[in-house]
Amino acid sequence: MSVIISEGVGGSRRYGRTVSSLTGSISLRLAMSLDGYIADERGGYDWIVPVPSPGLDTTDPLPFEAFLDDVDVVVMGRHCYDQGQHRDYAGLGKRLIVATSSPPAPAPGEGFVEFVSQDVVGIVRAARDAGERCFLFGGGVLVETFLASDMVDALTVSIVPVLLGKGRPLFGGRHPQLDLALTAYAVQDSKVRLVYRRR
Ligand SMILES: NC(=O)c1ccc[n+]([C@@H]2O[C@H](COP(=O)([O-])OP(=O)(O)OC[C@H]3O[C@@H](n4cnc5c(N)ncnc54)[C@H](OP(=O)(O)O)[C@@H]3O)[C@@H](O)[C@H]2O)c1
Repeated sequence: MSVIISEGVGGSRRYGRTVSSLTGSISLRLAMSLDGYIADERGGYDWIVPVPSPGLDTTDPLPFEAFLDDVDVVVMGRHCYDQGQHRDYAGLGKRLIVATSSPPAPAPGEGFVEFVSQDVVGIVRAARDAGERCFLFGGGVLVETFLASDMVDALTVSIVPVLLGKGRPLFGGRHPQLDLALTAYAVQDSKVRLVYRRR
């Protein structure tokens, strides 16, 4: 069972004080269009661009680097792997799990990738229960699997000021209700970053 503490005590808004820093947690962090997509139809994300929002940006943008510092395990879906997103995690000393029903042979120099075809939720649950801080990188299919199993403790969603109209959705709509509380927020270049924890 993960323990949740609230963020912002004493004015601190570092991720070091959020659920993501605590032992035993499963957190996701993604950028989402205002209409709920994390990628366009081709899987692209060139729509995630900084748009100045002078006078609105918060002092602390809750940067990704601070979030990642607290992470022990990164979990991503096969589509993200096929895009090469796993390469950003080479050499960081974190466990990297890729969910896929048909694991490929490891590419040269990519022995750090751990392909999982059976019960990825159970494997990540075991890591969480052993005190690991697990980051659900995405994409939407993988996230939906964890939401459907009620296995998400915290979410950071950065709302990007665009209506894509179509694309790859973050939420597939097949999960049970998940009640949340806001623990932090930030505004950065017209993106609104919302940090939630499970209630
Ligand atoms: N906006 C953001 O912040 C953000 C963040 C991350 C990713 N993305 C984008 O999201 C897109 C990818 O998302 P996506 O929803 O299309 O795909 P995805 O979740 O990355 O991958 C889906 C695939 O992962 C495997 N998979 C997922 N759950 C599984 C499970 N429980 N057991 C076994 N295998 C499982 C399956 O692979 P098999 O078909 O091999 O079985 C499935 O087809 C990319 O375009 C990426 O750039 C955006």
